[in-house]
Amino acid sequence: MSRDSLTITDNRTGKTYEIPVTDDTIRAFDLRQIKLNQNDFGMMSYDPAFNNTALCKSKISFIDGDNGILRYRGYPIEELAERSTYLETAYLIIFGELPTRKQLEEWTYHVTHHTFIHESIKKFLDGFHYDAHPMGMLISTIAALSTFYPDARHIFDAESRRKQTYRLIGKMPTLAAFAYRHSLGMPFVYPDNELTYPGNFLNMLFKTTELKYRPNPTLEHALDILFILHADHEQNCSAAAMRNVGSSHVDPYSACAAATAALYGPLHGGANEEVLRMLMEIGSIGNVPSYIKRVKSGEKRLMGFGHRIYKNYDPRARIIKRIADEVFDVMGRNPLLDIALEVERIALQDEYFVSRKLYPNVDFYTGLIYQSMGFPVTMFPVLFAIPRTSGWIAQWEEMLLDPEQKIARPRQIYMGHDQRPYVPMDQRS
Ligand code: CMC
Repeated sequence: MSRDSLTITDNRTGKTYEIPVTDDTIRAFDLRQIKLNQNDFGMMSYDPAFNNTALCKSKISFIDGDNGILRYRGYPIEELAERSTYLETAYLIIFGELPTRKQLEEWTYHVTHHTFIHESIKKFLDGFHYDAHPMGMLISTIAALSTFYPDARHIFDAESRRKQTYRLIGKMPTLAAFAYRHSLGMPFVYPDNELTYPGNFLNMLFKTTELKYRPNPTLEHALDILFILHADHEQNCSAAAMRNVGSSHVDPYSACAAATAALYGPLHGGANEEVLRMLMEIGSIGNVPSYIKRVKSGEKRLMGFGHRIYKNYDPRARIIKRIADEVFDVMGRNPLLDIALEVERIALQDEYFVSRKLYPNVDFYTGLIYQSMGFPVTMFPVLFAIPRTSGWIAQWEEMLLDPEQKIARPRQIYMGHDQRPYVPMDQRS
């Protein structure tokens, strides 16, 4: 008997099975041979919310949740935040290696030259109410891109995939900025190819009457680091959505719209927005203890706290706390910061949070930075979606090229009625 195996005895039948173990994992399909009799469907594993199920084999991001470690393609997030740029990191995430100087120049050129969107997209935006949530506008316009680029259907053509990659990474900031300008009723600002990726984004958001927009270098740098920190996070809800939807072989814009929709939820990328609303609701340092009490009684969730994987301080939150200081030096201290620090101080000492290993996550401090930079709260999840696009593309391509992957199709345990006769209308109660 191989040592790399699991021996399972089915006490219902007395039969024993040997199941191979690879990488500390068994294949769920190997359980299917465990049957009561020949007609039995066979055993399945039940795992709502995928708490203990690996969806794929991946080489993109590594997380050690107990020790608060995150690496992209092997490189620690701290080093990338210190030494890289978002576009360089996006290249690393998508293509697997840090680019050479020439590769980076080409990559930057192509992304920069795909930032314009078709003029008709502006008409879609015009159709939205002035107070439409920018995530709703972003999701819709990303999906609309698929209608402008029918060549994106050729998902097994490497050249086509690369083209859609340039387009998606290039156009996300434009769509996001146009959605923002629409909500203000302000004219759209076209991309400026002379600016960096985050610098151009700030230009499209905030330019008014000046002939040439010059981004504040501290804010531009802070945004670039925030983009690096949000670029990928292995099999989270939106990456899983990208893979699941992409597994039907739909074009990448449609899959990316689905991933963006997954990110919108308050338990995922919408959490940064909720953190700000929570801090405003708390209102003052003196109110923190009573708010924490309400959280502990189950009435509320402490937004920006807790993580499925991190059972330690989220390494991204640590870096973000440092960037916050740089931004506050330029823009002035965000008055909500003191409330946030007090929430963190109390929570990190409280048995409820300590025993459940609930620490600040990436979203706890980002909202404060974004608010200080002049973004309305509704733009916060949008600021998450832009950089996460590189992660989604990498996850999508890895899924497509993995010969073991097929259309995602989970099983269920049916708990409903057995067959029963149709009840005519006048006999229904
Ligand atoms: N506030 C209060 N209690 C919490 C929180 C929280 N933020 N998070 C988890 N718990 C409690 C939860 O009630 C449960 O307690 P008990 O064992 O008594 O029932 C225990 O901790 C385990 O929680 P869970 O819901 O089983 O954990 P999960 O892995 O399913 O959820 C989470 C992870 C991130 C959805 C959750 O921690 C949460 O809702 N946090 C607030 C929202 C948030 O900040 N989301 C951003 C996540 S990081 C960025 C991203 O992914 O986009």
